[in-house]
Amino acid sequence: MNSIKKASALCALAVTLFVGAQPSVAASTLNDATIFAIFDQANMADIATGRLGWKKSRTLEVRNLAKMVVTDHSAVQHMGRQLASDLGIIGTPPDGDASWGSQAQALAKLDALSGRAFDEAYLRYEIGYHTAVIGAIKSTLLPSIKNPQFKALVQKVLPGFEKHLTHTKAAADKLGVSY
Ligand SMILES: [Fe+2]
Repeated sequence: MNSIKKASALCALAVTLFVGAQPSVAASTLNDATIFAIFDQANMADIATGRLGWKKSRTLEVRNLAKMVVTDHSAVQHMGRQLASDLGIIGTPPDGDASWGSQAQALAKLDALSGRAFDEAYLRYEIGYHTAVIGAIKSTLLPSIKNPQFKALVQKVLPGFEKHLTHTKAAADKLGVSY
């Protein structure tokens, strides 16, 4: 396993752990304020990754993906923040949140690559990230959300996250990138 692939797997693992694969910790600490923070962070993370893809890739498929990801997650993040504001909820990260550090490390490793190596690592990272986030939303976040408006928002945007995964896999297939 090369370092980027490893980083991608670790990041996916971090996302999974972060949002509740440790039931003894997360089940007792997840509430709407922490889920708002997780949701916001997941959007922010993919906006940052998409911006890097847009900046670095010279491949049309990757640039189109990056643009879609930045546009969509920016809109979703805005909707989430607006709703949190309307509901008077301040997103509060769970104790021991290590997601920022792992995200920064993963982006730094991607940023060190260029050309085909970047495209391959970027696509694999995005596939791993979206797979982890979609899984976490379905298995842990959605069932835990109490506020009906917040739950409805997450349900509404989930197909968009799944669309990103589908499109990223299609781009990887087209460019001959295994994942
Ligand atoms: Fe996405």
